[in-house]
Amino acid sequence: MTQPFDWDAPRPGEVLGMLPQTADAGLYFIGQIRTPYARREDCPHQGDFDGPECRIEVLAAYQPALLGLEKRAYVQVLYFMHKARRDILVQTKRGSGEAFGTFALRSPVRPNPIASSIVKLERIEGATLIVRGLDCLDGTPLIDLKPWRGPI
Ligand SMILES: C[S@@+](CC[C@H](N)C(=O)[O-])C[C@H]1O[C@@H](n2cnc3c(N)ncnc32)[C@H](O)[C@@H]1O
Repeated sequence: MTQPFDWDAPRPGEVLGMLPQTADAGLYFIGQIRTPYARREDCPHQGDFDGPECRIEVLAAYQPALLGLEKRAYVQVLYFMHKARRDILVQTKRGSGEAFGTFALRSPVRPNPIASSIVKLERIEGATLIVRGLDCLDGTPLIDLKPWRGPI
């Protein structure tokens, strides 16, 4: 039987750093993201506008903050990669072993595991956005939503 891949084990050539003892700021998670991806190996590397519908469930307390967002075709989603370790400063590619600094990558492994995707907004149902273009695990915490006015 093959062993499951250990996403958290540092690879040869990777460089670990020390994280501070205390955080400099706090966050309020404003909801959660529901996707068909239960395991990291199920997730695409980046989302695709032709990908499956995903649900961004905003907490009811923040529903008023969605007013006007329905007019936008594309939304920038910021989310917290809650399953990622945070202390690797130089990472190596799985296949080639090529090394890159964390800030030269879009890897979820970073001191502040904040991810960003531009998604296609299909519709809004109450406090839930139905979108395409996400790449995260089911249950990933939601940090913020912003209308996207940049190039697609
Ligand atoms: C390469 S990152 C890109 C994230 C975002 N689109 C960005 O560019 O900032 C996407 C990968 O992160 C991993 N991932 C997804 N959700 C995660 C989570 N909640 N915690 C840890 N890793 C996650 C999956 O392996 C997925 O393929």
